[in-house]
Amino acid sequence: MTSNTAETVLITGAGRGLGQAFAALYAAKGWRVLCALRDPARHDGPGEAVRLDVADPASIAALGESLQGVAIDLIINNAGIRGDTGGLSTLEPQDFSEVMTVNALAPLLVARALHANLLAGRGRILANISSRAGSLAEGIVDDDDGDYAYRCSKAALNMATVLLARDFHRDGIAVLSLHPGWVRTDMGGDEAVVTVEDSAAGIKRILDGASLADSGSFHAYDGQRVAW
Ligand SMILES: NC(=O)c1ccc[n+]([C@@H]2O[C@H](COP(=O)([O-])OP(=O)(O)OC[C@H]3O[C@@H](n4cnc5c(N)ncnc54)[C@H](OP(=O)(O)O)[C@@H]3O)[C@@H](O)[C@H]2O)c1
Repeated sequence: MTSNTAETVLITGAGRGLGQAFAALYAAKGWRVLCALRDPARHDGPGEAVRLDVADPASIAALGESLQGVAIDLIINNAGIRGDTGGLSTLEPQDFSEVMTVNALAPLLVARALHANLLAGRGRILANISSRAGSLAEGIVDDDDGDYAYRCSKAALNMATVLLARDFHRDGIAVLSLHPGWVRTDMGGDEAVVTVEDSAAGIKRILDGASLADSGSFHAYDGQRVAW
């Protein structure tokens, strides 16, 4: 696979929800869009499907191998899952580990596997789709579900953003955490207040204007800074 367009974005979990909306937005702007999906055969939207199960480190490594030599300007670590919302009494170790693997470990492994691709690109942005639910300062202010796994995983992802921002600074790669709002997707549900189009467009606006000076920051889709 070779890169032959001006700008390339790779989006994890691009088959539905926010990931699919990102793919549509960037494709409409003429970007080459690499849609990383568990089942590429089911891909019917814009962009090129590439196989990726973020829960499987071997799959992440294989993606890195298959994309060797491809310049990538922007990676959006978007794939995510929720855990059990019943609180401490129903917390299952297996469920907790799965959520941590997908939401916190996988973005780190993707960053490592595709580091050379980002270096080869001009944009040099790594976007981690986090959640205000993982903010230590704001996460439980007006949102009181008991999803320990999800909240801990997004808090961990935020620390991953801070560490990656430090480690990638010398390479000129900016790393950002982004909160998409409460979005009407399978995850957000029908009562969510933000449309997937508005959320994706807001995050794209932030990424369009992002520079190394923004690395290590945490913003919501509407541009508001979120406290860690
Ligand atoms: N919706 C909200 O209100 C909200 C709020 C805050 C943060 N977020 C964050 O925004 C991101 C996108 O959420 P969403 O609302 O679009 O969720 P969604 O509609 O549930 O979609 C989740 C996406 O993640 C993918 N995914 C899950 N496990 C995967 C795996 N092991 N390998 C590859 N892909 C996997 C899914 O792929 P499959 O189709 O293969 O399952 C799907 O494309 C997530 O990180 C989420 O935590 C969402």
